[in-house]
Amino acid sequence: MSRGRILSGIKPTGNLHLGNYLGAIRNWVAMQKDYECFFCVVDLHAITADRIEPAELTRTTREVAAGYIASGIDPARATLFVQSHVPAHAELAWIFNCVARLGWLNRMTQFKDKAGKNRDTASAGLYVYPNLMAADILIYKATHVPVGEDQKQHIELARDIAQKFNHDYGVDLFVLPEPVIQGAATRVMSLRDGAKKMSKSDGGSDYAVIYMTDSADDIAAKLRKATTDPHPLPESVAGLEGRAEAANLLNIYAALTDRTLAEVVAETAGWGFGQFKTRLTETAVGVLGPINAEMARLMADPAELDAILAKGAAKARETAAPLLAEVYRTVGFLPAR
Ligand code: TRP
Repeated sequence: MSRGRILSGIKPTGNLHLGNYLGAIRNWVAMQKDYECFFCVVDLHAITADRIEPAELTRTTREVAAGYIASGIDPARATLFVQSHVPAHAELAWIFNCVARLGWLNRMTQFKDKAGKNRDTASAGLYVYPNLMAADILIYKATHVPVGEDQKQHIELARDIAQKFNHDYGVDLFVLPEPVIQGAATRVMSLRDGAKKMSKSDGGSDYAVIYMTDSADDIAAKLRKATTDPHPLPESVAGLEGRAEAANLLNIYAALTDRTLAEVVAETAGWGFGQFKTRLTETAVGVLGPINAEMARLMADPAELDAILAKGAAKARETAAPLLAEVYRTVGFLPAR
């Protein structure tokens, strides 16, 4: 039965892509049978960087939710909701702003990367982003948080916050969450540059990113143009050393077919890229085609999607409310009546 409770989320900035699918959503789908699941669309996090066109934020919020459902997240089993529909996240985040120390936030590598040299012009929201993420997790007493390697430091911060609050107030309210790190095999890189993570903020080339809404023709064209090298595919995993693009395409193939890298390397040993790309295209279209069609259906009738999200939000609010009340009481806020 349940091994615990998981919570995870994706920011609705830009369109969902293959990295979101293979690196996150596909793993969550598999975790549904073993864990009690909470999956949110973290829209509050989406506005920490540049201003997003408001209508675009509304659209991408629905698109992420549609992507979850179309990929196999079952709203009857998992609680699927939009972060801003559950005010407890933002309310607890304020308390955590007062628990986390500046020194802790100053060590966050993601803030340093994102703010770069322009620290003075970065938003205060970007700086306290990890406190909000801690609230997302701790408000549900999540025991496990599936995330990419780049988010591990944020989970450690959530643990530090939980521990400090529990310690300072002499309580045992917050559960310390464990990160479940999605393996390197599901770290999808740019199709144009095997050293760069596939990202909607790639900006470089339209051909670098496969979107979950891409048609079969788009997928075929992007894979055809994907950067390769002049050698046939290697006989062993060790032969991928120094061949980042070949490794990335093989990793994608392995993830799409639920196999290990070694297994797909054994299958494709000695193939030319032409043959391999044809196979990869068929596979990708076979997996993404039905997801793509279901996303289009859900986006065409947002009423159904919005109703699912309303139900999820009600469940999430109900789950979050008692702990937030307990936190307020613990801190000593005068009970509202
Ligand atoms: N920071 C995460 C990312 O950029 C998104 C996120 C926000 C998240 N809140 C979360 C992930 C809570 C897991 C749990 O990928």
